[in-house]
Amino acid sequence: MIKSDYLVIGSGIAGLSFALKGAKCGTVSLITKRKLFDSSTSRAQGGIACVTDRLDTFEEHVGDTLSSGAGLCNKEMVEKMVKESSSRIRELVELGVKFTKKDEFSFEFDLGLEGGHSKRRVLHAGDVTGAEIEKILISNVYRFENITVYEEHAAVDLILDDNNFCSGARVLNNENSKVEVFQAKVVVLACGGSGKTYLYTSNPDVATGDGIAMAYRAGADIANMEFVQFHPTCLYNGEAKSFLISEAVRGEGAVLRLKNGEQFMDKYSSQKELAPRDIVSRAIDTELKARRENFVYLDITSKSRDFLVRRFPNIYAKCLEYGIDMAKDMIPVTPAAHFFCGGINIDEHGRASIENLYAIGETACSGIHGANRLASNSLLEGIVYADRVYKDSLKLLNREHSKINDMENKINNFKKLSQVSMQEWEEIRRLAWSYLGIYRSNEKLLKAKKRIDILKNEIDKYFVDTHVSVDSIELRNITCVAKLILRSAMLRKESRGLHFNVDYPFMLSEAYNTILNINKKETLYAVRCREE
Ligand code: SIN
Repeated sequence: MIKSDYLVIGSGIAGLSFALKGAKCGTVSLITKRKLFDSSTSRAQGGIACVTDRLDTFEEHVGDTLSSGAGLCNKEMVEKMVKESSSRIRELVELGVKFTKKDEFSFEFDLGLEGGHSKRRVLHAGDVTGAEIEKILISNVYRFENITVYEEHAAVDLILDDNNFCSGARVLNNENSKVEVFQAKVVVLACGGSGKTYLYTSNPDVATGDGIAMAYRAGADIANMEFVQFHPTCLYNGEAKSFLISEAVRGEGAVLRLKNGEQFMDKYSSQKELAPRDIVSRAIDTELKARRENFVYLDITSKSRDFLVRRFPNIYAKCLEYGIDMAKDMIPVTPAAHFFCGGINIDEHGRASIENLYAIGETACSGIHGANRLASNSLLEGIVYADRVYKDSLKLLNREHSKINDMENKINNFKKLSQVSMQEWEEIRRLAWSYLGIYRSNEKLLKAKKRIDILKNEIDKYFVDTHVSVDSIELRNITCVAKLILRSAMLRKESRGLHFNVDYPFMLSEAYNTILNINKKETLYAVRCREE
């Protein structure tokens, strides 16, 4: 049994930022499924939204976030996040993060523009913002004696004590294949999203919804899982594994074109290429289906090679690897699953509905993103909620560790080895892509339900019967997440933000959140949104 004050699961911006704060007051076990750097944060290109320009205002950042969120944001939470943003950014800079400046002698940040933003307000480090932040946070984590890092450790399930308080987690040590018990006074889930539930995704392989699935099985409320954001422009190339072409490229003037060279975004929005992501992804999907084609082009040939190499060094180099010179060639792109706006339902302090359990970042549903996240608000949400959770959880450190049943230590199973079948892995991801994708319908949802129910039962049974492995943990979790998306999507009888059902093409006048809870099996319920 490994004991600490805090157990932090996940090593993106949310988990690392929290660990650095928690370590000032207590011991931290920081576990991560692969290496620390393997997170969605490391891949974030565009940047982190924050009002720093004299001509920009908090009100405008709040307004853009609310209008992207299509009536489902929690306005009070958005206002608080925007107000806290400069202090959190300052902390990142103090830790050593270097955001790109206007020029080498300037103190002013160079600000990017992305879809849904009425002003340039996106701080960035070239086009590798997440990697810069992740690198600096990791180097700071290694300076703290109070933080013990456990790489290659995959959480299996949360542990609840007799009072139903969260008191730790069972964790697979991938190096010796043993399941260990991690006990803590405070458990923080910062496991990121679940893009791998879908066949095509911009996410890294680790994004398998582990936090959401574990919290759901433990009895936490899970909210708004139907709102899956598809990023409009991922590189269309079989070998590139959905490499993202940042929205910042459109912010610098790139336009979308059909194969015949025609532009089409003006048919869909007066904001054209810089409309919120749900609109741009749906527009691309509509055009592709109408033409039975697989990609559209992103054209930034209006910019000079010098500019592109300076502003987008990573994207430029990656495209070149695939024989595309952005300065003279158009880039083939297609939408792919990118971000989960829903997740573990948390309050303003980051508390889940189970005592001692907190969730931060993409794994959580804080009310910030509503039905569609505004670009570059996710890294910001991660640091803002890491700070909130830190402040709120301090009071729990005076308690004793709760007693964990001895049996928890005896789960090292004498079972047959698991060999997860690729067929099930593929099938779930294909199902999600085809039936829970950009356009949904009642018929698609019903078809998905039949298959997912069967698969989920098989996979859950298999999980109980075999020795746990990272593959089986991930398969079980993406299956759980697929089912949660499906159930929430069936509950929503309207189209709003990222959820579009052709059988209910309109938005209801009253906004509500969908909440799922394993203990209220068939009583899915919808609660009125707290905004406006
Ligand atoms: C991008 O660079 O386009 C992604 C940024 C984000 O998801 O906020």
